[in-house]
Amino acid sequence: EAAEKGGYPHFMLKEINEQPAAITATVSPRVENGLPDLRIPELSDEVLRGIGTIHLVACGTAMHAGMVGKAAIEALARVPAEVDIASEFRYRNPILRPNDLVIIISQSGETSDTLAALKLAKSRGVPVLAIVNVVGSSIARAADHVLYTYAGPEIAVASTKAYTVQMCVLYLFAFRLALARGEQTEAEIRRLTAELLRASEVIKPRLADCEQIKYLASRFVNTQSCFFIGRGFDYSLSLEGSLKLKEISYVHSDAYAAGELKHGTISLITEGVPVIALATQKQVYEKTISNAKETKSRGAKVLLFTTKDAVVPEGVADYVVRLDDYDDLLMPLQLIVPLQLFAYYMAVLRGCDVDKPRNLAKSVTVE
Ligand code: G6P
Repeated sequence: EAAEKGGYPHFMLKEINEQPAAITATVSPRVENGLPDLRIPELSDEVLRGIGTIHLVACGTAMHAGMVGKAAIEALARVPAEVDIASEFRYRNPILRPNDLVIIISQSGETSDTLAALKLAKSRGVPVLAIVNVVGSSIARAADHVLYTYAGPEIAVASTKAYTVQMCVLYLFAFRLALARGEQTEAEIRRLTAELLRASEVIKPRLADCEQIKYLASRFVNTQSCFFIGRGFDYSLSLEGSLKLKEISYVHSDAYAAGELKHGTISLITEGVPVIALATQKQVYEKTISNAKETKSRGAKVLLFTTKDAVVPEGVADYVVRLDDYDDLLMPLQLIVPLQLFAYYMAVLRGCDVDKPRNLAKSVTVE
């Protein structure tokens, strides 16, 4: 097993560090002359133009990738997109129309609720596109079309590299959809595709920052409970960062859309409560900063993740982690790395079984 870990103490850390290679393997084969090419003849531009609503359905971390996909699809292609938890979708009699598209997202391709959601969509005559990591898995076989992620085998129960490449495939899909529907210029899609191709380079310095993140984890290691806040993409990343932390370090954590704080959670913010504030999106930067400040003024210990040049006013954060400049739309690919590392080091410092957290399975094949 030590050999399989390639010198890393845990599979999770190895897999976090495999993300640049996984991104390149997943994105480059789908770029042709600088533009995204899904390489699925049945999903021609003409077919993409006819899509009504897109339903993204998955469980756990894959569902969080779906949230990023929904935001990218709606922002770029202006096609309505919904995200569903598979176990909810399958029992809520969802409204599905013949020109809709269901996108099923799964690392293993074997999750029972996700497979059931796929079968429901097919029984209603709606085409299903699956984004799957495991070749030949049940979901890959049952779907009408498959876009494989090329993360390679993921052993750690907590998903890291699979999530990142799920987002990459969803970005490529959103780019192609926007191009096919004339919602973005070809020049803009070329620019975004080039930025996406650059993601593997963009995240390398974040991997190299691991000592800084380990230090920060040591400042929060004795916490009982913490909160993640953010808006837009930063909210989706709050959910994923919070889930990672809960799964492997057993610290209770809640993720909140920053604007919702005052509708409940702020009553729990007292002296020393950790708040991890994500503020990478220019459009809502001031709003999130003001929310972070509200928690700080109530005694919260604030760890802020923001961009290189963002101006952080006095009295907002105890610790600041800076990311490099990158397109706001693609920022989740960079932001997820320190969040994964934070969860990882919290778990290590708390003496948890990082790769095999209690009660969790890598793939949930029973309901
Ligand atoms: C389990 C795993 C999670 C994963 C979820 C969905 O709960 O522990 O890491 O996100 O299943 O798995 P899938 O293989 O469908 O992506």
